[in-house]
Amino acid sequence: MTAEAKIIPLDSVAPELIEQLLDRAFEPERRKRTAYKVREGMDWLPALSFAALDDNDMLVGTIQCWPVALTDPEGRAHPMIMVGPVAVLPEVQNVGYGKALMAATLASLSPDAPLPQVMIGDAEYYGRFWGFGNEHTSGWTLPGPWEPHRLLVRCDNPAVLPKAGKLGPWRG
Ligand SMILES: CC(C)(COP(=O)(O)OP(=O)(O)OC[C@H]1O[C@@H](n2cnc3c(N)ncnc32)[C@H](O)[C@@H]1OP(=O)(O)O)[C@@H](O)C(=O)NCCC(=O)NCCS
Repeated sequence: MTAEAKIIPLDSVAPELIEQLLDRAFEPERRKRTAYKVREGMDWLPALSFAALDDNDMLVGTIQCWPVALTDPEGRAHPMIMVGPVAVLPEVQNVGYGKALMAATLASLSPDAPLPQVMIGDAEYYGRFWGFGNEHTSGWTLPGPWEPHRLLVRCDNPAVLPKAGKLGPWRG
């Protein structure tokens, strides 16, 4: 079955509804995840963050993107976009909402200067459909525990990616 997703800007959704949905899609301890530390203190980017509604205009999924940076060993900060969480309510997973949310975000990236997109997620899903991969992230570190094969990046020109660095919030 494929659902018809209505995609709307996330900033048109009440913040408490977004939090309720994330609580249902993830475990209650979600805020302790390393991904939260990578983007600590940042606000999500409204132009790249979306919500999915079902046929009855009920909220069923969200995607958020954040300004982060990979700081290389010389101290240079390379801006990147952190994608996620991507969250779909358990009872309506696997009917296309996740793909619709990812498509909305990726289509909204600046075509002139798309920043590399980084995420912690399943390479099987984000690689298969969107070209994310872990080939370029083995020298990167995070401010907390992580599974290296789940640290993914997507970039038009991987040659620009630093081989080593630490991911954290974008400090401007
Ligand atoms: C991961 C998630 C966002 C995918 O969204 P979804 O709406 O359920 O998935 P879609 O309907 O867009 O895509 C379905 C396809 O992806 C595959 N797929 C879904 N989740 C997958 C995963 N974690 N790994 C590999 N493949 C996956 C399905 O098998 C299906 O494949 P098919 O088209 O060959 O049948 C959603 O399941 C979810 O919110 N999970 C819990 C939270 C989470 O883990 N988020 C990701 C980390 S930020």
